[in-house]
Amino acid sequence: MAKLIERKIEKLGLTYDDILLRAEYSEMDPAKVNVASNLTKKIKLKIPILSAAMDTVTEAKLAIALALDGGLGIIHKNYSAERQAEEVALVKRFESGFVEKPLTLSPANTLRDAREINKKYSGIPITKDGSSNGRLVGLLTSKDYYFDDPDTDTIDKYMTTFDDLVIDYEGITLEQANQRLKESKKGKVLIIDNDKDRRLMSIVCRRDLEKNYDYPNSCKDENKRLRVGAAVGVRDYKDRAGLLIKAGVDVIVVDTAHGHSKNVIDAIKDLKKNFDINIIGGNVATKDGTEALIEAGADAVKVGIGPGAICTTRIVTGVGSPQASAVLECVEAAGDIPIIADGGIKYSGDIAKAIGLGANAVMIGGLFAGTNEAPGETVITEDHRVYKSYRGMGSIGAMMDGSADRYFQTIPGEPNVKKLVAEGIEGMVPAIGPLADHLYQLIGGLKQAMGYCGAKTIDEFQKKATFIQAMPGTASHESHPRVDILKDAPNYPRRT
Ligand code: IMP
Repeated sequence: MAKLIERKIEKLGLTYDDILLRAEYSEMDPAKVNVASNLTKKIKLKIPILSAAMDTVTEAKLAIALALDGGLGIIHKNYSAERQAEEVALVKRFESGFVEKPLTLSPANTLRDAREINKKYSGIPITKDGSSNGRLVGLLTSKDYYFDDPDTDTIDKYMTTFDDLVIDYEGITLEQANQRLKESKKGKVLIIDNDKDRRLMSIVCRRDLEKNYDYPNSCKDENKRLRVGAAVGVRDYKDRAGLLIKAGVDVIVVDTAHGHSKNVIDAIKDLKKNFDINIIGGNVATKDGTEALIEAGADAVKVGIGPGAICTTRIVTGVGSPQASAVLECVEAAGDIPIIADGGIKYSGDIAKAIGLGANAVMIGGLFAGTNEAPGETVITEDHRVYKSYRGMGSIGAMMDGSADRYFQTIPGEPNVKKLVAEGIEGMVPAIGPLADHLYQLIGGLKQAMGYCGAKTIDEFQKKATFIQAMPGTASHESHPRVDILKDAPNYPRRT
């Protein structure tokens, strides 16, 4: 009998609530610990946090806020490939060193056209044909905006012309461009190919330089542009990936509910063969699944079947793996390929547990859905409490909007709601204000944990951390406060 049970029931699975990090001798000041981590061998994070590729969590706004603080957002794919690529481009353009393909207009455009664009951009390069690498003829700055009739007045009457611009040439370094900005006291350096063709190659903006000082910890690429990722499915992944890469995406996530399957493995192989881009594969929860994705070429593997706050996979299908055990099993199988612990983060302590188990980063959905930057709808209840919507990508609503292929179900857009089997719910979470404040608490908790364990770096923490397993069902009760809360702590809201 025991043998039969062993054969059928593989092992005991533990959730984050079932374990606690063991405190170790420490000389560490939590304020001095470094939480930088590797997302892949090529991409470094300043904080080990990704935001989930969900349509109520990650679009450009949240991805920008997260990257400014050192993490990385994964833009969801419940949009057309073009729109998703535009969200990626918004992040890449937000704060940059060299802005390639800036928004441009032609001298024949009206001032009204410029105003439409200028809600977001302070100076618009003007090229002869209006294209982003056409012949540079001028720059329309905010000082050029005196006009009589914006609908008929054209830009050529007002723009600062080529001879008065700060120009430099392809090949200039960012430091040199910054120096030119400082010396000229102007807002932009315009980089062209040569004096003959004057084709616009990129621009460098003073405003971006200033932002670099404001956010010294941001997660950036070699050109000092914020990093961002984007999700693809197993159907239209190739065309989508092409557009995302063109828009500057740093990493592509082949995002499915069951990564250990043929079409996911094939998609990863195909993407690695055709593009020079980092790929994260997922989700898996086993040694075999992890090994299969790594063999296919994944640069990192995402782990989690069923721990998500809006997830009903375990209830609807009976399939899943308690997240702490799943992370540990996959970390052991992955060797030096990074593991991302996806879903089930309820508190900062869960981040510490995931990283201590060996994950290089966590992916967060629910804890970010209530931030100002998340795209979910704001809901005000009758008793004036403010919430934001948060729904699973396997909920009926999200699947009807395009995510059905994450669950290997119907082709997006088909109006057959009755044929969809939901693996997620549509809900709401309390509105919690700016992401940055929330991140401060989450990272603060992780740093404190590293202090308790005497670890200065993520690498050291992963090596040193050991755990105590609590008696089932008891740890959670003993760990939580057991009095009526008078005042919410910023990292322990009353709803818990
Ligand atoms: P959370 O941080 O606990 O809210 O979990 C977020 C994670 O849940 C995402 O990154 C996905 O991996 C996963 N997820 C998203 N939508 C669904 C769903 O509808 N069903 C199951 N899992 C989901």
